[in-house]
Amino acid sequence: MARKTVKFPPEARERAVRWVVENAHLYPSRRAAVGSVAALLGCSAATVEAWLRRADVPLPAEGDTPAEREAVRLLRQLVHGHADQAVRLRRLETWLIHLMRTTGVSLESLRMEPSDSQKPASSRDVDYAQIELTRGGLVPRIERLRALTDAQCRDVDYLEHVVIPELGLAEEEWSFPDEVAHLSGKGLHLLQLPCQVAPFLVWLADHAQGIRSYLEIGVRWGGMFILLSEWLRRFSPEFRLATALDPADMSPLIAEYDRYLGSTGDQRVIEVRYVQEYSTSEAARGAVRHANPDLVFIDGDHSYEGVRHDYELVGDGPRMILFHDIVARNWPGVGRLWQEVREQTAGTHVAAEFAKQYKSGDGGGMGLGLVRRSDTSLSRK
Ligand SMILES: C[S@@+](CC[C@H](N)C(=O)[O-])C[C@H]1O[C@@H](n2cnc3c(N)ncnc32)[C@H](O)[C@@H]1O
Repeated sequence: MARKTVKFPPEARERAVRWVVENAHLYPSRRAAVGSVAALLGCSAATVEAWLRRADVPLPAEGDTPAEREAVRLLRQLVHGHADQAVRLRRLETWLIHLMRTTGVSLESLRMEPSDSQKPASSRDVDYAQIELTRGGLVPRIERLRALTDAQCRDVDYLEHVVIPELGLAEEEWSFPDEVAHLSGKGLHLLQLPCQVAPFLVWLADHAQGIRSYLEIGVRWGGMFILLSEWLRRFSPEFRLATALDPADMSPLIAEYDRYLGSTGDQRVIEVRYVQEYSTSEAARGAVRHANPDLVFIDGDHSYEGVRHDYELVGDGPRMILFHDIVARNWPGVGRLWQEVREQTAGTHVAAEFAKQYKSGDGGGMGLGLVRRSDTSLSRK
């Protein structure tokens, strides 16, 4: 597939650079912070590195001054002998150095979270070169999913430890804790934690019936889009339309999935629509109207304003709305909006959270949260 390269506007580049500078301390390494923002922008880490070099921004590394080096030494002593804490240690090191370079830091400000204004933008400059290598990996995985028994679809352990590892996680290895990082760069390229998706899938198996239309805002590689489409195909006989909304070029996985659906001669035609637009565009508004979705997954712009916009965009038509990154430390705006939504819909919706954490993580990894209209108000508007 030919690669399109469209330049980012200067303000998007500046925003990305500022984001890395201000958030690098929240990640195990600077590389991880760069990777994280690149993933959300839909460009390569090398592109963001080049912007940082051009902006000539000094970033905390190992510690330049004697005080910084001493602080790092003390922290290393603190966790000496505890290999499983290595990630936490690296994070503490970068964090400490960052603070030492910031004047007037108080203990209170140590607890501050990054501001919501650090909005990631996304782009049409997507590098799917790596994924070309994985082509041919999609169909066996779809067939594997279709061959699962109903009991296996409701077995959280089996899904978490056998099925999702076989499906494969996304390229962004730094997004994943040690326990599952080795699964990255494979298959469906799910940008999800297996210990969270597995119980969600079991929940969805029991609540999918009647879902006709699915909309995912922010699909990236398309892994979750394909997985949920397959799940709905199986558990909702009414399921007909899957709409992906993302300003990036369509992932080759989604293109292949669409071809696969067309080739199976399946009597139940499921239409896949890819809308290459920002959710803030007028076209996106039209696409939402057309889709009239019963289930929406919001995973696009992760700033508070971005998630709120997407929540308001879909309105109260969907019977279920799913959010991603509700406990992610690096996206506090999502968690804030999620709490507000829970409170505002407490009288009309039931809420569920899938936010189990891995031991090696810091307790702030991704997290799925969903609100579902209570049974008494299920009828569509
Ligand atoms: C974290 S990834 C999505 C991962 C995907 N949902 C999954 O679970 O595999 C975020 C995606 O959101 C897209 N995005 C960012 N801002 C957006 C917006 N305003 N509207 C739609 N998509 C957006 C980016 O292009 C990127 O592909």
